[in-house]
Amino acid sequence: MIYLDNSATTRPHPQVVETMKRAMESYYGNPSSLHQMGVEAETVLKQAREVAASYLGCKPGEVIFTSGGTESNNTAIKGVAFQYQNRGKHIITTQVEHPAVYDVCKQLEGLGFTTTYLPVDRDGRVSLEDVKKAMRPDTILVSVMYVNNELGTIQPVAEIGQWLKQFPKVLFHVDAVQAVGKIPLRLKDSGIDLLSVSAHKFYGPRGVGILYKREGLIIHPLLMGGGQEGGVRSGTENLPAIAGMAKAIRILSELGTGETARLEKLLQQLRQGISAIEGCRINTPASGTAPHIMNISVPGVKAEVLLHALEERGFLVSTKSACSSKANEPSRVLVSAGIDRDCALSSLRISLGRENTEEDIKSFLSALGECVSSLRTQMKVKA
Ligand SMILES: Cc1ncc(COP(=O)(O)O)c(C=O)c1O
Repeated sequence: MIYLDNSATTRPHPQVVETMKRAMESYYGNPSSLHQMGVEAETVLKQAREVAASYLGCKPGEVIFTSGGTESNNTAIKGVAFQYQNRGKHIITTQVEHPAVYDVCKQLEGLGFTTTYLPVDRDGRVSLEDVKKAMRPDTILVSVMYVNNELGTIQPVAEIGQWLKQFPKVLFHVDAVQAVGKIPLRLKDSGIDLLSVSAHKFYGPRGVGILYKREGLIIHPLLMGGGQEGGVRSGTENLPAIAGMAKAIRILSELGTGETARLEKLLQQLRQGISAIEGCRINTPASGTAPHIMNISVPGVKAEVLLHALEERGFLVSTKSACSSKANEPSRVLVSAGIDRDCALSSLRISLGRENTEEDIKSFLSALGECVSSLRTQMKVKA
């Protein structure tokens, strides 16, 4: 099987698995315990925090360990909303966020908050101008994702962050779950107050992530208890997963930008090959995207049918994002980008990763060509 669903999740690196095994066997003390086992576990935790901080370009105290992207997003958005509701109840986000942001805003609307969902252009990109227009005296939070998980579009997060600096009371949250390890992140002077990270998207374990919270910023904790993670996220830390994530981050740092360049080349190869297949349309913009996501449509062919035809030939891809792929409705993200319903219903996401090679792309393209041609012939016969 050739795995081309790396935006859904990635295969943990063998060294990550080894690190986690060692942490489970040797560091099972509770980091909050005062005895030697506790101190040893706390040291592992401290080292992991330093590794994460150095990668993100922030201070170790600004790293909060969570259970992943969903929790980081919920903690950031609800944490700000509940803490600062006396200042205002208006939130700005986009129409193309992951449900872990979009549905959180919807939920807050039920609690008396109002949300502006910014439109996007044909590339799935929001504009700073629209952020400016949406600003109100009662705005307390702007939440914009870094890289869109369906189209791969990079949002103008740097520009928005710079502009928002003149409103110190309006907080800026960024869902960077699809960005880590794919595009350079620099938190210092970015204007970003809160940023979400998830380890399983970069060859780390599932169920662990980071919420970066700018030093001095107070947010309402969602989980109360033992006061771990600076009181923002109570609960005994998942040390093996955190150690595994730190290992995955170390590997990212070692690989540097070479891997991004390699993925960009593979994505280009994919784009060229797909453009030559009759009946295929490319939804991912030609520039300004992350190097690992390619969204395509074969109008008239149901996405699941194509997905399973590819699976029979040994290729694993996905329809929409993995989290919402079971609902039989067109993707909110693609529809927001002006892609027609028919196209949106037939869209597939191919997402590349560290293990994919030029050879994989070549054989995938030939399988895709065969599947599309035979499914389109079947359609014509039926019609
Ligand atoms: C952009 C984005 N945000 C958040 C999440 C949720 O992350 P997690 O699976 O760690 O909860 C995902 C996962 O697909 C994502 O792509």
